[in-house]
Amino acid sequence: MGVKGKLLFSKQLSTAGSIISGIVIPVQSEYLIENANWRDLGALNTLEKVCFGEDAWPYLELLGLLTFPGVVRLKATVRREMIGFISGDARRAEKTGWILTLGVLPAWRRRGVALALLAECERRMGMPQVKLTVRRGNLPAIRLYEKLGYQQVDIWSKYYRSGEDGLVLAKHLPAANGAGHGSG
Ligand SMILES: CC(C)(COP(=O)(O)OP(=O)(O)OC[C@H]1O[C@@H](n2cnc3c(N)ncnc32)[C@H](O)[C@@H]1OP(=O)(O)O)[C@@H](O)C(=O)NCCC(=O)NCCS
Repeated sequence: MGVKGKLLFSKQLSTAGSIISGIVIPVQSEYLIENANWRDLGALNTLEKVCFGEDAWPYLELLGLLTFPGVVRLKATVRREMIGFISGDARRAEKTGWILTLGVLPAWRRRGVALALLAECERRMGMPQVKLTVRRGNLPAIRLYEKLGYQQVDIWSKYYRSGEDGLVLAKHLPAANGAGHGSG
């Protein structure tokens, strides 16, 4: 069972392949948040490359992400096409969920898709604490995490290949959080 959200955006009216400039019609489109699996490997590989460039997870590791037990993996789709993805590792021994990757295709950004993916991933991991790392200079992502209540708890110096520092952010969740559904 997926979770539905609505995207409101504008579209330029086009006829026979040409755009009638100046005419903008509002279009409402629904996105769905649902479990991802190994069949999503190709789409996820593309999304990772678009969103992360040199930091993209390698193909085989993405397969692991889509198949390992205990990992929550969720995709946001519009008309069955993947437009966003998140995965989180529920480390029960540490009582901590780690967000492993989160990306939304550029054309679908600033419509709340990442917020919805992150909130649902937190809920499904069902951990009292969630942590993640983010590049010090990745302001869009930092703003997003702050909006959902994450705070900086550590700095991992030169954590990224380029030498950029990683900020470790964390959030405590109320005891009632999450059904702990895991990846299922
Ligand atoms: C970061 C990312 C996942 C955000 O996805 P998104 O779907 O556009 O995010 P949302 O629409 O849910 O944004 C929610 C809030 O985050 C903040 N935010 C998101 N993008 C922002 C931007 N470019 N500039 C400033 N704030 C931003 C805003 O507070 C926003 O709320 P608002 O639109 O009401 O102002 C997306 O930009 C992305 O995929 N980036 C490349 C990959 C990446 O950096 N992933 C995170 C790795 S740690």
